[in-house]
Amino acid sequence: MDNQKKIALIAGRDNWHTRDFPEEGIPVVTMSDGPHGLRVEKKAGIGFPQSVPAVAWPVLSALGCSFDTELIHEIGTALAEECIAEGVDVLLAPGINHKRNPLCGRNFEYFSEDPVVSGELGSAYVNGLQENGIGASLKHYAANSREEGRLVTDSIVEERTLHEIYLRAFDTVIHKAKPWTMMMAYNMLNGIYCCENEFLMNHARKEGFDGVFVSDWGGVSDPAASLIHGLNLIMPGNHHADAKVQEALEKGILSQDKLDESVRCISDLAKKVSHHSPKPYDIQKHLDLALKAAEESIVLLKNDGVLPVKKEQSFLLVGNLLKMSNHGGNGSSKVEAISVDHVTDIFDKRKINYAFYSGKSIEKTIRLAKEKDIVIIGAGYYENEESEGYDRKNMRLSSHQNRLIRELCNNHDHVIVVIQTGSPVEMPWKEDAEGILYMNLTGCRGGSALTNILFGMTCPSARLAETFPQKLEDVPSYAHFSDNPHQMEYREGIFTGYRYYDTFDIPVNYGFGHGLSYTHFSYSDLKTGDYSVSFTLKNDGDYDARNTVCLYIGFKDSSITRAAKELKAFQSVYLKKGEEKRIVFNLDESMFQYYDIQKHDWMIEEGMYQLMIGGAVNEIFLQTEMYHEGIQNPYSSIQKEFYEFSEGKLHIEKASFEKMLGRQIPQFKNNIDADSSLKDLELHTFRFLAKVLSKKKELLPGVRLSTIQETPLRQILMADQKITWETIDGMVELLNGMPVKGIKKVLKSLKSSRL
Ligand code: BGC
Repeated sequence: MDNQKKIALIAGRDNWHTRDFPEEGIPVVTMSDGPHGLRVEKKAGIGFPQSVPAVAWPVLSALGCSFDTELIHEIGTALAEECIAEGVDVLLAPGINHKRNPLCGRNFEYFSEDPVVSGELGSAYVNGLQENGIGASLKHYAANSREEGRLVTDSIVEERTLHEIYLRAFDTVIHKAKPWTMMMAYNMLNGIYCCENEFLMNHARKEGFDGVFVSDWGGVSDPAASLIHGLNLIMPGNHHADAKVQEALEKGILSQDKLDESVRCISDLAKKVSHHSPKPYDIQKHLDLALKAAEESIVLLKNDGVLPVKKEQSFLLVGNLLKMSNHGGNGSSKVEAISVDHVTDIFDKRKINYAFYSGKSIEKTIRLAKEKDIVIIGAGYYENEESEGYDRKNMRLSSHQNRLIRELCNNHDHVIVVIQTGSPVEMPWKEDAEGILYMNLTGCRGGSALTNILFGMTCPSARLAETFPQKLEDVPSYAHFSDNPHQMEYREGIFTGYRYYDTFDIPVNYGFGHGLSYTHFSYSDLKTGDYSVSFTLKNDGDYDARNTVCLYIGFKDSSITRAAKELKAFQSVYLKKGEEKRIVFNLDESMFQYYDIQKHDWMIEEGMYQLMIGGAVNEIFLQTEMYHEGIQNPYSSIQKEFYEFSEGKLHIEKASFEKMLGRQIPQFKNNIDADSSLKDLELHTFRFLAKVLSKKKELLPGVRLSTIQETPLRQILMADQKITWETIDGMVELLNGMPVKGIKKVLKSLKSSRL
């Protein structure tokens, strides 16, 4: 194969395909989003054009609450069948990023605030796909935890935190499921774009990844540098990158070996995946599985006796979300659902005695409520409020929804609140509602699943895979999440999510792992065996039900900074009423390890560890201790003197964070280059341009103006095949005060690319 073909192969043909060279035995690879169902576009276009109707599965943040690896494996298998039916070879999923802050617009696309949960569920998803011949794309690698400025922002993360929190889930999926591709995140990690981040890519290779590193769509800032440092495939593609790569190869900056390695990875993938002839799948079977998945995802947060409700009772359903469910969030993961069960439709079908009102007038709602036994209010976000491309500004429901719930609770004794969001919200009325269900965004069967749970046909079993804090200010990354569009300092280090709330006793609304049931489980007879721990779990209540049991490990006398408890393993168990089972957790060394930044490796500190069996992190039923051998003088960069806990908050000064990092945080350089966004240009002399564009509300269908303002110049490449890197270079020169040179370059590039 000559170099021209090789260079062509390392960038895709268009948005969704790689190039094929049949004469070289390299077939095409077709890709599609993921992760909550297929998004096969009807016609190519910019933004998120209409896609072919598909099964809308519960979003990953909902599936995270199931803690059920078998269920997620089944969903992976079902998705593989859907891919085969649509001619898709690689599904761009799953997203397993760590949820650092509830405001991140894409949190609904991720499983959990715990890397063990994300790693185990992510592995099940990937195995389900790949065992059926469809490749996964594990994304977004790595430390991609905010949407604001996502294409350029620098995630600054200390080494131990990076390994223990942000890379851990990726490592697990590499070990347990060997994904065929990994998608490099848009952001920078410690000053280097993920697509060019040799540390990240070498790390995954060392852990055993042998597939294709693919860029996130339009995530390449410098094609040659990306390939040199390990990226294999630039997406979406056309001939954009060719000239830059050719030049780097000629100058010897990019070695022939590196280029050949990428070619080998892509052609291996193409040979592995492209053998399916489209075959229809059993839609009903998938819809049934989507129902089971939704049932296992809905968390019963509070029940003062109102649930389950009875068919003889009368109901007032309040809120448009019960009439038009929000089945998923917005952005590249949005599925055009083939059907959606809305709660009111299901109530109609089952002939339940109910009335519906939107809730627009609070007075009217109260009047109507008085005529019914039970009030069920659906509160949450409408489709575009949680989205790829931008973050939430706060953690609140609308003030109308909050007022409505409060007033209803003041005027009716039996109010059940159903929350339809993909991430936590504040609940100022929490004490007043009689029942609270976290429905999440549960896909096309959400309405049926909710109804089954409300009426006790299904016993709720889900647990929160993410803490519901009382208020946004309590979130450990609160002060360093949206304070700087260009940099994100992960100052809280390992103290994210429950690791923080639990260790520092911060009161929360509902803790990690919280989830009630209609039945009762008892836990007894804890024993430690040969590197294992076991106990008896009994369903001694009145319902057949599923339950997730968790193993947490702590080390009170550790000489390094640690969280009070860390989840190390979990099992989802189904028990009929009266049934009991011996549950065994086999231990392994990784459960006792911390990441030592002097040895740059995982180590075990010698001492007495606490092994705790629980549900929620603050609900430990059984506990024992175990001595583990290991090193005596562990070292951690996260030291107590670097942080201060006062007035209910963790404070880490910049100087302390720099000590933890072992370096100074670089100043953001606001020069104009291909990575500059419209917002950056505003700081220069281009305010007029930014202003003109700001007047338009929606420049591209479905894409917010703020997203466009934060998009770097280089993304213009995605708008038209005629635009090349040379065009971008010309524009940069023009903006840097070299109009003649710049315009000449732009025109030349456009002319030559037309040829
Ligand atoms: C998203 C990816 C997605 C890709 C293709 C990007 O904007 O970050 O998650 O797979 O687009 O649609």
